[in-house]
Amino acid sequence: MSDPILRIDNIDQHFAGLHALKHVSFNLTEGEILGIIGPNGAGKSTLFNAIVGTVPPVSGAVWFRDQNVVGMPTHKIAQLGIAKTSQSVQVFGEMTARDNVAVAALLGRNSVASARTAAQAELEFWGLGRLADNLAQDLPLAQRSLLELARAMMLSPQILLVDEVMAGLNESEVDDILSRLMRINKERGVSLMVIEHNMRALMKVSSQILALDYGAVLTMGKPEEVSHHKQVVEAYLGAD
Ligand SMILES: Nc1ncnc2c1ncn2[C@@H]1O[C@H](COP(=O)(O)OP(=O)(O)O)[C@@H](O)[C@H]1O
Ligand SMILES: [Mg+2]
Repeated sequence: MSDPILRIDNIDQHFAGLHALKHVSFNLTEGEILGIIGPNGAGKSTLFNAIVGTVPPVSGAVWFRDQNVVGMPTHKIAQLGIAKTSQSVQVFGEMTARDNVAVAALLGRNSVASARTAAQAELEFWGLGRLADNLAQDLPLAQRSLLELARAMMLSPQILLVDEVMAGLNESEVDDILSRLMRINKERGVSLMVIEHNMRALMKVSSQILALDYGAVLTMGKPEEVSHHKQVVEAYLGAD
């Protein structure tokens, strides 16, 4: 078993009277894919925002290797190696697929030409090479989701946080994204945390699953254990 690459240590989040994260603690093991489940409003996206610093936690620590990143600006946390996709696909519609990725690539490069070259290579990895010159707004949802992942990967993250990128996709599109997520994990060494409502999909790729409910950790364990956990079943039946 490898060491943790990320240690979430007792973090809390409050929004005007709402206790959105309650003493959340868990580890992400280096090289693993950790699935995150929970009903709507459970605090899953809030957890990701706390990790990448867009909305830092009010207390607790987020240890990335030996550094507590709480309080660091978002760009610094991204540079250290933690990237996140957003829940709603946020590509620039009036730019080409290539330039959407090149914008992210520019952060680590000093010329537009080299950013575009790197962007093209990343698009090829996600199966979007042929679509590089299309405007992002003209791409179907599945391809826009892939584009969002391509953009996040331009930051060369060690950890990628994926927030419901498979929402609205059909089964074969979901399987396509899953196989590419497994490739960035296995071939490119990226540790992943994946928020996903589709349990079938999540259980296929995750070595561990974390269940959140009302801002608190309900349980964490192997997929087959968590899927039979009484409160997990209740939280899901209660919500849906
Ligand atoms: N920036 C914010 N300001 C106020 N309330 C928020 C904010 N972000 C999230 N919330 C609230 O926190 C709770 C958890 O939200 P969220 O993390 O988006 O849930 P999930 O991603 O699990 O569906 C919800 O009740 C939501 O309305
Ligand atoms: Mg969410």
